[in-house]
Amino acid sequence: MRRINLILFIVACVLLAAVAPVHSQRPRNVEREVNALLARMTLAEKLGQLQQLDGEANGNFRPEHLDLARKGLLGSTLNVRGVAKTNQLQRVAMTESRLKIPLLFGFDVIHGYRTIFPIPVGEAASWDPMLAERSAAVAAQEANNAGLHWTFAPMLDIARDARWGRITEGAGEDPFLGAAFAAARVRGFQGSDYSAPDRVLACAKHWVAYGAAEGGRDYDTTDLSENVLRGIYFPPFKAAVDAGVGTFMSSFNAINGVPASANAFTLTKVLRQEWKFDGFVVSDYTSVRELINHGVAANEEQAAAAALNAGVDMEMVSRSYNQFGPQLIEQRKLTMATVDEAVRRILRIKYRLGLFDKPYADEARESGSLLRPDSLRLARDAAARSMVLLKNERGVLPLEKNVKSIAVIGPLADDRRAPLGPWNGDGREENTVTMLAGIKASVPAETKVGYAKGCDIKGDSDAGFTEAVALAKESDVALVFVGESDEMGGEAASRSSLDLPGRQMDLVKAIQTSGKPTVVVLVNSRPLTIGWIVDNVPSILVAWMGGSQAGNAIADVVFGDVNPSGKLPVTFPRTVGQVPIYYNHLNTGRPPEEQNKYSSKYLDVPWTPQFPFGFGLSYTTFKLSNLQVSAPRIRATDKLTVSVDVENSGQRVGDEVVQLYIRDVVASMSRPVKELKGFQRVTLRPGEKRRVEFTLSHDHLAFWNREMRFVVEPGEFRVMVGSNSRDVIEAKFEVVER
Ligand code: NOJ
Repeated sequence: MRRINLILFIVACVLLAAVAPVHSQRPRNVEREVNALLARMTLAEKLGQLQQLDGEANGNFRPEHLDLARKGLLGSTLNVRGVAKTNQLQRVAMTESRLKIPLLFGFDVIHGYRTIFPIPVGEAASWDPMLAERSAAVAAQEANNAGLHWTFAPMLDIARDARWGRITEGAGEDPFLGAAFAAARVRGFQGSDYSAPDRVLACAKHWVAYGAAEGGRDYDTTDLSENVLRGIYFPPFKAAVDAGVGTFMSSFNAINGVPASANAFTLTKVLRQEWKFDGFVVSDYTSVRELINHGVAANEEQAAAAALNAGVDMEMVSRSYNQFGPQLIEQRKLTMATVDEAVRRILRIKYRLGLFDKPYADEARESGSLLRPDSLRLARDAAARSMVLLKNERGVLPLEKNVKSIAVIGPLADDRRAPLGPWNGDGREENTVTMLAGIKASVPAETKVGYAKGCDIKGDSDAGFTEAVALAKESDVALVFVGESDEMGGEAASRSSLDLPGRQMDLVKAIQTSGKPTVVVLVNSRPLTIGWIVDNVPSILVAWMGGSQAGNAIADVVFGDVNPSGKLPVTFPRTVGQVPIYYNHLNTGRPPEEQNKYSSKYLDVPWTPQFPFGFGLSYTTFKLSNLQVSAPRIRATDKLTVSVDVENSGQRVGDEVVQLYIRDVVASMSRPVKELKGFQRVTLRPGEKRRVEFTLSHDHLAFWNREMRFVVEPGEFRVMVGSNSRDVIEAKFEVVER
């Protein structure tokens, strides 16, 4: 009888397994297959899986890659792309190598592959994570159809320093907004299953604190308390793990003296043990070998041991693991178990990607997959929704479509390169709609659109000023496009000044003398210091680097087809000397508001920013009122509802992004003066009023205390709701002990 029961039980299990969704079945099968494969691998083949090498900039693989793939000594490449090339190299791995383990093809698809979307910090200004999810999905579709499996994105570094060029690649300065965008981008790239066609594996980078580089100088060191790491720099990465991200990239910087690519605390304790991440970690480009320069390894052999033992599984470009792995094992400085675990993590992801079943890309899908009309439509929407209106006096904007003549001025007005921004994938200049082209395309034939460059982005010459001023004088309105070139942002593009480069500010001043209504449009990769413009020009629009459709999008906003609703995801300083400047700072013992000689301030400039975090205007106006909390007192485990009326008090339909901030007034550690804990976008017709509700719960109120426990401490909390981080209305509540 017992036997029959057992047989019945086994049959039931088999049946259940057969009908269970593929996903829940996967881990067991994958683990079994990974282990079976691992058992057949030589040490050289194992180390081969840990090696990633760079292709050529044009997407070709290198001759050496064929040889290494044949011998089973290559796990992955970066930059090799295009189906013909990836398939050719893959075919060697799949047909000529002993174990036929597929290669993984990675590429930096940061804000688009061929259809380029706004730079990520710009897209974050939409405060619309769903938009980022959709743009990442288009990027994934184009990349996947070009033979790629893996993007080195999203970049999740919190950045409080606009000098740092890579501020452009992330979602700005705030951990809450950053976490929302992190999860959205991971979902967009990977979908619910990254083995699906049109999806790619995502990579949360750069782990971690890379954005806190001292002096804003790229690659420089960071020194941060564990509270700040956990409270500010980790949350977007945790959100990515929760969203199922498959890989991480270790960063270039040292964290409190220990390089991130040899940091067992971040790579193993936090990522693996606390967060249970079971994907793999790739180093950044040569960051394993760079451990020598950091001074924590005397040579590549030591570098390999330090990185692999700390938890970096795949080595990008440098070859220390492969060269020194065998002798490290022999000398017992590295165990086979550590190597096996790294290989296991990589193979696991290759299985989950479905590469063993479907190693090749489909050539038929490649053509027709790029720059699809719906992709371009989304890029146009995304660019328009990213724009932030900083000032609009005398209603200069929106322009009437029947305006008779428009002067389009500035070095960025007809530039095809800058709108693509840094890290523009496989984007092509010929696909950029320039600002000038977009404006021309959206006005009636009889409207005169004149163009004058005025000056270059860099350089000393003002030779073009006279022509530009003359054009402004003979036009009804002047649109002046100034800012940065694409290579002034991104990696290795830190700046010690946030001013407009070259003679651009002088150009704006010259145009202003024409007396014509003037709009300054910034094409920028970071916050810029534009005090003179703020004081003197009636209308200012931040367009960021808006991608392939930047010009059409600017026309949509300038002529009012789209009412701007973007909000700054980063603080705009008055002067570079204020940097780092961010809204969620601590109060100090002598807060600047006290306004006496010894309060915390500057002698030569107000302590406040030029524009605060969360700031952005609309062509209409909004009023917030009647802020209420659902209870005056709650326990730490309770939920609290915060509600507020939002009213469109102007003349046009528009979107407001209502922002909720809290302050933990007295705690065992000093807490920020404000912390974003919620935001909601509402679309309202003129005169329409709506009640918006937010829910606050334990995790919103908790912080990492001195014992590194995530706790809610009893006491008073202020809750602030506003249209930016400065202009808020307030209520309060108390957290009581149970
Ligand atoms: C170095 C960059 O820091 C990283 O973000 C990028 O993914 C790699 N290079 C590969 O291009």
